[in-house]
Amino acid sequence: MTDIATLRRHLAANRFMPVPPPELMFCGDGDFRAIGAEFLERMVRDAGLEPGHRVLDIGCGIGRLALPLTQYLDETGSYDGVDPVAPGIAWCAANITTLYPRVRFRHLDLRHPLYNPHGALPTAGTPLPFAEGSFDRVCLISVFTHLGLAEVLHYAGEVARLLAPGGCCLATAFQMNAPAREALAAGQGRLAFDPAADGPVYYAEPDAPLAAVAFDEDAFLEKFLRHGLRRRKPAHYGCWSGRDGSSFQDICIFEKE
Ligand SMILES: C[S@@+](CC[C@H](N)C(=O)[O-])C[C@H]1O[C@@H](n2cnc3c(N)ncnc32)[C@H](O)[C@@H]1O
Repeated sequence: MTDIATLRRHLAANRFMPVPPPELMFCGDGDFRAIGAEFLERMVRDAGLEPGHRVLDIGCGIGRLALPLTQYLDETGSYDGVDPVAPGIAWCAANITTLYPRVRFRHLDLRHPLYNPHGALPTAGTPLPFAEGSFDRVCLISVFTHLGLAEVLHYAGEVARLLAPGGCCLATAFQMNAPAREALAAGQGRLAFDPAADGPVYYAEPDAPLAAVAFDEDAFLEKFLRHGLRRRKPAHYGCWSGRDGSSFQDICIFEKE
């Protein structure tokens, strides 16, 4: 099989891979294909993803990871993506599942002030519609950067429930710690978090608090430890705060023994 760095390069440049129309591009700026391919490589290198794994993508958006995954998973692997934005899920189902039936999407009507303001369900307390131990890998990419700590705790519990023993989760976040504060205080940050503010939760845009959320690293980590998940050391710290990093957000891998 092609090595993952080569596959990433090919996927990032593959103009045959569909991309959602501009009106559905609600998952951030940047090159849609290149970022998806980058996260596929991270799932393989950092989270040990294998072609036969069962993957759950919580907050899957518009298929940025699912599309490159179609070229990596084999006929025994599978992918389930869930998200509260119904048109994004509909686009993914029509454009991906029709060709790759083992790559599936579900809309969950979870309330979020920016993404799904009229949603019927609170996130914390709403179990995901999958059985215990159903997945080998779970990911939440750029999702905890838009939620509060109660939701982090809830999803940590769901990750612990849904992972099979030995499975792991890749989650991105903005983790406030001493080096991040220093870089922000030096004016190097790419987001307007106030390094002098009191934690454990920080908002870069006070008028739209859930547009970008950071947590004290210890408070974030504790939510996973509480559910028996262990963070694989070291976390990979991103460049959001102005410190050096090859990713934008911080990347954590949580393992279930
Ligand atoms: C910045 S986008 C990232 C999407 C995708 N993970 C990616 O990397 O392309 C954030 C996603 O989180 C989803 N989201 C918002 N509230 C959520 C919740 N309570 N549970 C799960 N996902 C949520 C949004 O609908 C959106 O698709």
